[in-house]
Amino acid sequence: MEKDIEEVLFTPAQLDEKITELGHQITKDYQGKDLLMIGVLKGANVFMSDLMRKIETSVKIDFMAVSSYGLSTQSSGVVRIIKDLDYSIEGKDVLVVEDIIDTGLTLHYLYDNLLSRKPSSLKICTLLDKPERRRVDIPVDYKGFDIPDEFIVGYGIDYAEQYRNLPYVAILKREVYEK
Ligand code: PRP
Ligand code: MN
Ligand code: MG
Repeated sequence: MEKDIEEVLFTPAQLDEKITELGHQITKDYQGKDLLMIGVLKGANVFMSDLMRKIETSVKIDFMAVSSYGLSTQSSGVVRIIKDLDYSIEGKDVLVVEDIIDTGLTLHYLYDNLLSRKPSSLKICTLLDKPERRRVDIPVDYKGFDIPDEFIVGYGIDYAEQYRNLPYVAILKREVYEK
């Protein structure tokens, strides 16, 4: 684990501070609304559970599981829905919660898919954004940090399903995935 890490980008304290800010902003913006947070599994699991506890207005949650990377470091570009939402989102104020936007292909697919279900509003919150790598435009409403074009793990984010449990966000050593 630790031996595979090149550099820690955001410590638990830095993450907590930023997520508290995001939570305050979302609390203000969704006063009196019917906020439904949709976490994109598996990566957004950790961010989602910390963010929802920083929101001081009523919140419901649901999850979708999609995957485009699988065990690879490259996005396949083909997004598979592995688990769909439990309930309809028609008329709901939906906030999609992602851990990271890289090429944007996952959210591009998800955004259109969710929009077709007629929510009252649809916004996007991501902890991390890698703008250099974007292949399709994504309207990001809430963002934690911009990050450089490096392979990131931790705080929910994996490489081949590993490292999700690291409490910080870090750059993975190249030698780990370039074999
Ligand atoms: C990762 C990440 C985002 C997506 C971002 O998910 O959690 O959902 O890729 O990449 P993109 O902008 O290039 O589409 P992944 O497909 O690895 O599934 P996971 O969340 O289960 O790890
Ligand atoms: Mn994901
Ligand atoms: Mg992944």
